[in-house]
Amino acid sequence: MSGDRFLGLSAYLAEEGARVESALARAVNRLHARLAPDHEVADAIRHGVMTGGKRLRPILCVSAWSACGGERTDAAYDLAGSLEMIHAYSLMHDDLPCMDDAALRRGSPTTHRVHGEDVTMRAAAVLIPGAALQALEACNALGCPPERSRAVAKALMEASGAGGMVGGQWLDLLGEGRVLGPDELDGLHRRKTGALLAAALVMGAIAAGAEPRVREALERYGRCIGLAFQIADDILDATASAAELGKNPSDAELDKSTYVSLHGLDEARRRATSVVDEALAALDEAALDAPALAALARYVVERQK
Ligand code: IPE
Ligand code: IPE
Ligand code: MG
Ligand code: MG
Ligand code: MG
Repeated sequence: MSGDRFLGLSAYLAEEGARVESALARAVNRLHARLAPDHEVADAIRHGVMTGGKRLRPILCVSAWSACGGERTDAAYDLAGSLEMIHAYSLMHDDLPCMDDAALRRGSPTTHRVHGEDVTMRAAAVLIPGAALQALEACNALGCPPERSRAVAKALMEASGAGGMVGGQWLDLLGEGRVLGPDELDGLHRRKTGALLAAALVMGAIAAGAEPRVREALERYGRCIGLAFQIADDILDATASAAELGKNPSDAELDKSTYVSLHGLDEARRRATSVVDEALAALDEAALDAPALAALARYVVERQK
């Protein structure tokens, strides 16, 4: 249970976001120290990791860690930062011409538009082992026994890999120009976005040594908000402007299979709300007094960007 006082979501996002930014700055500096003297790749890493973003995955990880009794030390934010390193690499690749071919991300030019495609591919690739190493080192610093550290790193890599984010990105590209069935689309969303969001909760819970009942409830919560998060992303792509989103809406132009193209806007909104309700029920079932996690679940579908 968290002993933290929760003073509302905007204050929480601002305070937690600032701690995550510091952890990411530490992470980028560590990578830079190993990379020298390739300055161009180092600059591309900084651009991809440090240029904005809601930092939702690390904030969820620290929130789960804290809800399970962990202290909010720098090492906890380093652990959480490993998720954002994977997320940042996934976006650097997602925006490349061979994927979604995007020019704008988080209100700035995409990494490859600034540093070129070859440098961006290398910079993104460095983040993958960098994230795994950082998760393991953070677990050590948090005093986790070896089997917990291994389970945390495994959760991160499984969620990032063929059965998770990368596999989902591949299905997403294969789905362009095709009409996917509802189950196929659910599977795609759960992999490409849901898996890493669920891992954020699972990693926080495992590192804190949560009992299985609590860890499973947090995983269920994570899977639900992960699906809701990508449905909301599809809705925003169909309804918001580039100025509002900080990225160019492109799903219709790329002929993507999305919740909006398959189910329509109203049904997409209804489904997003219904999976968030399931996420809140998972917290209740585990009797988790976690006001930040409850507020974050609602934020996933109410957000404007
Ligand atoms: C965008 O993720 C890509 C998806 C997985 C939908 P976010 O909406 O979390 O992007 P940032 O990190 O806040 O820019
Ligand atoms: C990306 O999905 C999911 C990732 C794993 C990066 P999108 O392609 O819909 O993300 P945006 O809309 O470009 O942020
Ligand atoms: Mg994409
Ligand atoms: Mg994209
Ligand atoms: Mg999108």
